[in-house]
Amino acid sequence: MCGIVGYVGDKQAQGVVIEGLRRLEYRGYDSAGIAVVCGPDGTAGSGALASDKKAGKLANLEKEIADHPLPPSTTGIGHTRWATHGAPTDRNAHPHLGNERRLALVHNGIIENFAELRSSLEADGHELLSETDTEVAAHLVERELVKGVDLTAAMQAACRQMEGAFTLVAIDAQDADRVVAARRNSPLVVGLGEGENFLGSDVAAFIEHTREAMELGQDQVVTITREGVAVTNFDGTPSDGTRYHVDWDLSAAEKDGHDWFMRKEIHEQPRAVADSLLGRRTPAGQLQLDEVRISDEDLRDIDKVIIIACGTSFYAGMVAKYAIEHWCRIPCEVELASEFRYRDPILTRETLVVAISQSGETADTLQAIRHARTQRSKVLAICNTNGSTIPRESDAVIYTHAGPEIGVASTKGFLTQLVACYLLALYLAQVKGTRYGDEINQVMDQLEAMPGHIQTVLDREEEVYALAKSYVGARSVLFLGRHAGYPVALEGALKLKELAYLHAEGFAAGELKHGPIALVEQDLPIWCVVPPRGRDQLHEKMISGIQEVRARGARTICLAEDGDTAIEPYADVLIRLPKVPTLLQPLVAAVPLQLFACELATLMGHDVDQPRNLAKSVTVE
Ligand code: F6R
Repeated sequence: MCGIVGYVGDKQAQGVVIEGLRRLEYRGYDSAGIAVVCGPDGTAGSGALASDKKAGKLANLEKEIADHPLPPSTTGIGHTRWATHGAPTDRNAHPHLGNERRLALVHNGIIENFAELRSSLEADGHELLSETDTEVAAHLVERELVKGVDLTAAMQAACRQMEGAFTLVAIDAQDADRVVAARRNSPLVVGLGEGENFLGSDVAAFIEHTREAMELGQDQVVTITREGVAVTNFDGTPSDGTRYHVDWDLSAAEKDGHDWFMRKEIHEQPRAVADSLLGRRTPAGQLQLDEVRISDEDLRDIDKVIIIACGTSFYAGMVAKYAIEHWCRIPCEVELASEFRYRDPILTRETLVVAISQSGETADTLQAIRHARTQRSKVLAICNTNGSTIPRESDAVIYTHAGPEIGVASTKGFLTQLVACYLLALYLAQVKGTRYGDEINQVMDQLEAMPGHIQTVLDREEEVYALAKSYVGARSVLFLGRHAGYPVALEGALKLKELAYLHAEGFAAGELKHGPIALVEQDLPIWCVVPPRGRDQLHEKMISGIQEVRARGARTICLAEDGDTAIEPYADVLIRLPKVPTLLQPLVAAVPLQLFACELATLMGHDVDQPRNLAKSVTVE
């Protein structure tokens, strides 16, 4: 939810930290701030702190420090915020300083016992200036520091007093060679350089400098100096992180000539889908999912699947339900993660819980899987972020290979989640013996053809952009779908809501006549995801739904497969999709809807990558 950067080395910290914040700004953009260790008279050295922070986007802070540069320093921290406690003002922005102005600290997460800690600090004479729980953490760590210990020990002692979810990163004015961070239930990775080291909420913060990284475990404190990295537990006992090499580079975190990260990420989908399918078949034609560390025996015993996820990931889960029930013949429920544990779900050892999360940090999903594990169910994560909390806390994981998704609205994250869901469904079918090799291989062939089909849709993007032009100023847009096209309709509506701030709703086409049809009025635009012909009369039923809305004056924009002539009389606008099987159609049908939302929001002058009120990873419930 917030972005955090820390640096110690031989470069100027201001540049490294601001650049890191720029790459993390997608995580939150209500305010931003920076602090560095410097000499007391504003020169290089130690003894004092210099800091600056501004409400609004990072550009506000950049302008401020361009006008009033910070002193030279090679040790610093920075933060980009998505407000939880306290409004997004200059005062509430991070970093926060301790009582004696000796310590600066940034924070991501929520300190649950902050009210109690605040009272204890105030009773000790501390004067807190903001409404944030972060300032409480800053005072708390500094209260330990002034007892005469080093910053590492002070951080450990303070962490033992805090409850909740937090990543904290701090610097001490008296120690220019150390940045210390702590992690509980909130993301933090270390970047390992030569003569310099980094901290970041994710690797994008330092990818420009190093691709060697270390992930940390739960309840750990990490100290970075120029020479090295030391990890301990909160009680001070030495521990270790897990080192890994980041297999994407700076260009993956940049816009590559596109106006928005989102547009770039939409165009990356053929590659992302292809990468997510790589290496999934043995030479003998068996499906293999190496990361699924659940034995075949345990998988054979699974008698129910429950999928939990939020937002776009939830819609991927809805598609998965169709695939799992069709191919595996096991009941599958899909549940919003935020609702899951509150309804007292029936979970057994034979239930497989599948948690879908692009970021791997979504608090609602994390809490839901924790609940499932207390009931002894097996949890499998589908995730795009290596080393994030959700896969770490799951029994097994299927990683999607979308690369970093920076645009707040999920696009390639969604398509690769769909791929992972299809793979999981086919794998379960293979293990349970409900589908045989030939059929599984046939679907795999169809899946492997999808990157080409998605590219075909992208090659037709101008048609969608022209359409978007005619809908600037629209007040409301509806989306209809059936079967696997229904979640696509919901996803199309979500994209439009979050980017163009329009009233947009998705419906199961058959449900329309049970109420929502009352919304239809003259010229209302309705996107219709038309199922391929030939299956369960879905196509014919969709056409009758379309006729009903046209009869009431709606303008229909139909997404229909190449060669579907039956739809022509009923489409005011016809956008063609390549011919693919019904179950796989979401992989192509979602793309024009993503392009439409991106273009309409652009034409309306909105910030597509950073829509209002949203953050990329939502680490509070
Ligand atoms: C919408 C969007 C969100 C996320 C949701 C879950 O475009 O991106 O609805 O899908 O917040 O996030 P993850 O998948 O990271 O758990």
